[in-house]
Amino acid sequence: MKVSLGAKTLAQPTPVWVIGSYDTAGKPNMMTAAWGGICCSAPPCLAVSVRAERHTYAGVMQRKAFTVSVPSERHVAEADYVGMVSGSVADKFAVTGLTAVKSELVYAPYVAEFPLVIECRLLQALDLGAHTQFIGEIMDVKADAEVLDADGHVDLTKLLPILFAPGSSKYYGVGAAVAQGFSVGKKFSG
Ligand SMILES: Cc1cc2nc3c(=O)[nH]c(=O)nc-3n(C[C@H](O)[C@H](O)[C@H](O)COP(=O)(O)O)c2cc1C
Repeated sequence: MKVSLGAKTLAQPTPVWVIGSYDTAGKPNMMTAAWGGICCSAPPCLAVSVRAERHTYAGVMQRKAFTVSVPSERHVAEADYVGMVSGSVADKFAVTGLTAVKSELVYAPYVAEFPLVIECRLLQALDLGAHTQFIGEIMDVKADAEVLDADGHVDLTKLLPILFAPGSSKYYGVGAAVAQGFSVGKKFSG
């Protein structure tokens, strides 16, 4: 029997992404975002939802650019911190010791220490209510060589991304691969 949990943002799990932007004064900033995901294949796009009161919001709107840096488990405390403190009151790069690298493709910084980085130009900003959804066209994805498998694909068991559970607010790790996509289901198609 299923129990109703209500009309809430309880899709499970979400990613833990860190959005990099330059603020309106040109200072690099970063904030954690769990409300995000891939949203189009061509052009390649992702979406992140940011409240207008976030320091990040004005910077992205002004620069029309942002990055997504994907932290691994070992940076879970840094990812949590940059999701609790605003860049309007703290220099989060200085506090955490993380390194801001200016993207050569878009006007936004990314986090050098995080193993996967996605550089985006702002394509659209959709005011949905509490959040504005930033649609970013992916200009490049950069990965540390250590998180790639022999075929050059990102290996999640090496990347060790963090999953977030809305509701409990717990962070989780990923387990082993369970099957091959576009393959294991073929047993039903004969
Ligand atoms: C796990 C986690 C996920 C979060 N996801 C979002 C999100 O998707 N959108 C958002 O606007 N704020 C989100 N926040 C809150 C912001 O990261 C937080 O308010 C941050 O301090 C904003 O930084 P800024 O003011 O420097 O932009 C999240 C916080 C945490 C800890």
